[in-house]
Formats: sequence, C-alpha cells, structure tokens
Amino acid sequence: MTNYYSEELIQSVIEANDIVDIASGYMTLKRVGNSFKGKCPFHNEKTASFTVSREKQLYHCFGCGAGGNVITFVMEMEKLPFVDALKFLAARVNMILPEKQNQQEDHQAYEKKKRLYEMHREAANYYYKVLKTERPAREYLLQRGISQETIREFGVGYASEDWSRLTDFLNTKGFTMTEMLDSGLILASEKKRHYDRFRSRIMFPIVNPRGQIVGFGGRLMAAGQNGPKYLNSPETPIFSKSYELYNLNHCKNFLEEGRLFIVEGYMDVISLYEKGIKNTVAALGTAFTPFHGKILERYASEVIIAFDGDSAGKSATEKAMNILKKTSLNVKILNLPINEDPDSFVQKYGQQGFKDFVAKALTIVEYELELLKSHNDLSQTDGRLRYGNEAIKVLRQLETSVEIDYYSKIVAGETGINQEVIRREVLRSKTRSDNSSQLVELPPSEAAPLKIPRAYKKAQELAIRFCLKTPDIIDEFPMDYLTDPFYKDLLRTLSDKRKTGIRFEVNQIMSHFEDSEEVKKIVEFMMNEDEVSRSDYQDALEIMNRFYNEAQLDRLSEQIKRESTNGNDDEVARLTNQFIEIKKMMKENGRH
Ligand code: UTP
Ligand code: MN
Repeated sequence: MTNYYSEELIQSVIEANDIVDIASGYMTLKRVGNSFKGKCPFHNEKTASFTVSREKQLYHCFGCGAGGNVITFVMEMEKLPFVDALKFLAARVNMILPEKQNQQEDHQAYEKKKRLYEMHREAANYYYKVLKTERPAREYLLQRGISQETIREFGVGYASEDWSRLTDFLNTKGFTMTEMLDSGLILASEKKRHYDRFRSRIMFPIVNPRGQIVGFGGRLMAAGQNGPKYLNSPETPIFSKSYELYNLNHCKNFLEEGRLFIVEGYMDVISLYEKGIKNTVAALGTAFTPFHGKILERYASEVIIAFDGDSAGKSATEKAMNILKKTSLNVKILNLPINEDPDSFVQKYGQQGFKDFVAKALTIVEYELELLKSHNDLSQTDGRLRYGNEAIKVLRQLETSVEIDYYSKIVAGETGINQEVIRREVLRSKTRSDNSSQLVELPPSEAAPLKIPRAYKKAQELAIRFCLKTPDIIDEFPMDYLTDPFYKDLLRTLSDKRKTGIRFEVNQIMSHFEDSEEVKKIVEFMMNEDEVSRSDYQDALEIMNRFYNEAQLDRLSEQIKRESTNGNDDEVARLTNQFIEIKKMMKENGRH
C-alpha cells in the first residue's frame, strides 16, 4: 500500500466519519431494520440493493458487488486516490493530517480543488453583499416575484459593472492569479490584463450536493446589454456542466414521494421555490446529459420534465426524455402552453394552478402519441392510418400487457382500427425486435469449465468468513489449502496484525488491499449475515482437505508418468509411495 499514514490515524479518520452520513450526502437512504438501503450509485437499478450498515461501517451492493468502507466510498464517488479521500474525510471532521513530502501530485490536485472551493465561497459571499447595495438589481428580483428570503436561500448575488472588483477582492483574500484564472472567475486579456468574467449580472451560485459552491450563472437584467442573457462558469477542475444540476443540493431534502421536476432555467427553479414547489432541478445551460440521468436516479424515483413551452423547449424535452427512458426513473412530461415556462406559469396561476396542471402530466407514451397526432391529420383516412402505424411503434416500448391493452384501446378509438389488431401488431413487432437483438447480443454463455470446483470455492469462502469472525483460529489455518493468493494474503495480513498485539478492526485491513475487487470481496464476507458455525467451518475444512489431496494425487500421477517414461525407477517408487500414503489418509478421513 502506498499510503504513509499510520493505521491508527487512518482508523481514527474512519471512525470519525459515519458511513451512513457520508453516503446520505450522495443518495437517498432508507432505514430498513438494522441497515440502510438505497439505489446503488455504482450501477443502474430499479430496486434498492445498496446496503449500508452503521454497525459495521461498511456498504455493499447485492446487485453489482460494489462494497467497501467510508474511504473506498469517497474514492469511488469523488474519483479520488486513497490519500485524498482520507484527507477529504479528515477535513470533514476538522482533523488535520500531518504533511509528508512524497505523494506530492496527489496532494496538489486535492489542495488545488480545495482552494477553488474556498475561492468560490468567498466570491459568492462577495456577490451576495454587493447585491445588498445595488438597488436596481434588488428591484429587478422583487419585480420578478423573488422575496428576500428566497434570495438568501439561494445565495443570489450581484456582480457590479466594474472590470476588476472581484479580482481585487480575491487578491486581498490571498488567492494567486493562477488560482483565479483556474477558477474561471477571472479572465486574462490578450495584453495579459486581468478582469472579472461576470459583470453587471445577477449571480446564481451553483452548489453541489455536498454544499460546495462550484460555479455561477449570471443573468443580465435587461435585454440589449452587452453579451448573452446568461453566462455560466466554464468547465473547471471543480465544475462540469454535464454533471452538476442546479438546486440538487436543496431539492434532495424536499422530494415528494421520490418525485422531482426538471426545468430549464435558474429562474424556473427559484420562482417555483418561491411558490412552495421545492423539488426541482435545472440542467445548466446545456442539454440534459446521461450523467444527469444517472445522478437523479440516486435521489428520485419519478421525474417530471417541465421545460419551456416553446419549440426549443419541446426539442429539449424529447432529448431529455430519450435519455431518461434508459434509466430506472419513472418519467412524465408537463406539456406547458407555448408561451409559458414554469416560472411564468406559476406566477400566473399560483401553486395550486401549477399542481392542477401537474396532475395532467403525460407519460412518455402519451406524450409521443400526442406528438404523432400533431403531425398527422386524423380527420383524413391516410392520416389516421399513418398515425396508427406509427403509434404501434410507440406502444412497443410498453412493458406490461396491461399497459399495451390500455393504450391499444386508446389508439383504436382514435383511428377506428380494431383494438385486437393493434394489440397483436404491438406484440408481434415486440418479439421480432427482441429476437433480432438477440442475434447481436448472445445471452451470456455458461462460464468456461472451472478448474476449481464450486464446492471448493464455497468452502474456502466459508472458512475465510469464519476466520474473520474468529481471528483466534487464523494461526492454525492450513494455508496450503487456499488456492487464491488473495485469500492467503488476507489471512497472513490478519495474522500479522494479531502478532503486533494492537487492537484492530477488519475495516482497517482494507487499506492493505489496493485492488478494489479485493476490497469488495472482503466487504462481501463482512456483510454476509449468514451464520457460520464451527461445525460449518469444520465441514469446509474437510472439503478443502479432500480437494487439496485430490490435487496432490493428480500432480503425483503426472510426475509418476513422466518419471517412468524417463526410466527413473527410484523416483517412480518414491512418488508411488507418496501417492499411496495420500490415498490411505483420504480413506481414513472418509471413515469418520
Ligand atoms: P431561459 O432563457 O429559458 O432562462 O434559458 P430562464 O431561466 O427562463 O430565465 P429568465 O426567466 O429569462 O430570466 C434557460 C436556461 O438556459 C441557459 C441558462 O441556464 C438558463 O437558465 N442559458 C440561457 C444560457 O446558458 N445562456 C443564455 O444566453 C440563455
Ligand atoms: Mn424564464
């Protein structure tokens, strides 16, 4: 292992950071009995197979096998190397890790990010203060129906028209020019003059789910001012538009029955919030990405796309819908009138008006049928037929026969085509497409015949689990029985630990295993709730013993064959004696 921190220190960082708290920062966890469950952040799933144990301070996904402790969790989620994950967790609980010289690069990346977060927080505070002194900006927000309370809640601020007020301010806070340029908040002209990126703009801080400010969006107050209406932070080491979602940090606390709205703009989020609708997020000035979809899967079970009613909004809706189809999320679409966005709608009709409209949100199939209808003239026969044929393709994505039946009836009503005909066509094209996809994607074939029998594998695992629970027996464990070098390594590490006489937790030995597959395996052992009794263990040893002996016999008979072709009679005799000894022993063992 390449870390240079003592195990006691690593252990104290682990102990200071509750795995349930950490994981909750990234996903929704529900208490189930003694553990917490949620949808696995590491793979796509509909059911919650991700389990976090507060007692064991471990997580494990029964679906994809991901697992580990609080450090591996942060490593995975934050894409950090071990040492940085450790620092991340230490910083979280105000622990200070001593610095060492080596591993400089790892530190640098982490330190750099930390500085950028700090700088963004300073900048946000600064913009927020500036807004207080800018009457026109405050009046603008007021006139858009945004209260002081909401301004505070979102940390809305203002960047004045001066060219370098933020640059000067950050300078007094001790940030270097390199750091400022890295943040994207400050730009350099061709003549190497530095100036603020955001000027004369209402500022919306973008906050990640951990509460760190990672970027800004800035809006000009009036049309006709120089530049685009909205300007966003560029991609930086701490900000990527394709990952972040505006308001995800808040909205995760306000999900109503696992449901949230996806809207287009900052002002939609804020305006809905003002009117008491707090479960919203917005993608940031770019299209909704598959990453966004994956992130939302961790928090929500249903999303309602509520984009602007104009044609740009419609085409964005279609794109987002196609991305969200591939997730486990239940997707609905709010088809807003052409001149409205969620902001204008809720301002006009209020919370109740919005909610009433939400009750009419369409499913994906309904939305696609609506779209088809708008392209075909159903008062004409050929329009109806074209619509009918296209509709069948839409219905193919339905999964249950109940749904197919339901929508077939609707399309039948609209076209005059017999419902049974539609239903049959849907089913027929469904199976056809399933078959064709199978030609490309063969079902996983039976694994190649294993050299190590299943029973033996199982026995090894069981024995290891017993050793983990009963460390006293480790020293007498017959290491030769183990076929997997990892198991040997694991038991040796445990045994070495015991010899040092220091109290240790199994959680702690994970840092000895760099390979994440190995960590997963250890966690799997630890999280396995099935009882292993001493007699199970003894049975396992017996199975292993038999396998071990059989393998010895195979090896010996190979050698005997070879030596006899070489004419080494003495060697043949010696090996044959060994062979017979083992046979005898096995027979005796078989008798008890
Ligand atoms: P909108 O123009 O719909 O913004 O753009 P909005 O939130 O409704 O704002 P108001 O009501 O006009 O104040 C939607 C989103 O697209 C991005 C922004 O993220 C905005 O919130 N956008 C828009 C840009 O990035 N640049 C632009 O010039 C315009
Ligand atoms: Mn708007």
